[in-house]
Amino acid sequence: MTAQLIDGKAIAAQVQARVREKVLARSATGRRAPALATVLVGADPASEIYVRNKRRACEMVGIRSLPLHFEASIDEEQLLAEVDRLNADPAIDGILVQLPLPPQLAAQRVIERIHPDKDVDGYHPYNLGRLAQRLPTLRPCTPYGVIELLKSTGVDLHGLRATVVGASNHVGRPMALELLLAGCTTTICHRFTRNLHEEVARAEVLVVAVGRPGFIKGEWVRPGAIVIDIGINRLPDGKLTGDVEFAAARERASWITPVPGGVGPMTVAMLMENTLQAAERRSA
Ligand code: GUN
Repeated sequence: MTAQLIDGKAIAAQVQARVREKVLARSATGRRAPALATVLVGADPASEIYVRNKRRACEMVGIRSLPLHFEASIDEEQLLAEVDRLNADPAIDGILVQLPLPPQLAAQRVIERIHPDKDVDGYHPYNLGRLAQRLPTLRPCTPYGVIELLKSTGVDLHGLRATVVGASNHVGRPMALELLLAGCTTTICHRFTRNLHEEVARAEVLVVAVGRPGFIKGEWVRPGAIVIDIGINRLPDGKLTGDVEFAAARERASWITPVPGGVGPMTVAMLMENTLQAAERRSA
């Protein structure tokens, strides 16, 4: 079997087109465009690229973006005061603080300071708690995007055995909650998991987010599985690659995401969707 590719770039473009139409429909009824504040601290090159891509996406869908950039030396109280100011600003619907933050800043304190209604990353414990209780509000963008990719295959997810490899707060854990909400029998694997290959071999839906190139061997993949690779790793030759051995996994899977062009573009598209949802909710 050679898997069909899940084209994240095309599906992200569809999501963004849908958001753009809804933003236009808002203006047609005299309501203002949704507005996203993007907060960048310091000069981490990868973060600068990510934030630039998010601002570009805003432009494409008609969301107003308010770019804020602070020196790496900003202290925590100053940054928290900026978050307070954005929380109180009625013209701002979403607040995105790009991570990682410089070491003197406690990211968790900053995340918890963002008002849950403006938490378009879906990282606030309130929003994660809502997802855990099957009452999702603003949902973490990458796992939410993976659900859109899975839906695009047309496969009924109810009752499928899903395995998430990687248990991070922002990706692996909310991913497992999303799969549970979608009706999968869900397992999470992490650094203490024994016999990882046996867990992977059971998975009818395999989602991997560990950040190690080729960590999941192609021969571990269950024949017919849907494989979603969240990893984006840069090799010494500059090329990007995922966490799954793509060529070998593709020979066993039914559907698979490429890297690049799979999950990556979905994160930004779902951020646009969340910003629209935050604006709609606030003006409802
Ligand atoms: N750093 C890497 N990915 C993300 C993301 O999706 N949101 C934020 N805030 N920071 C990130």
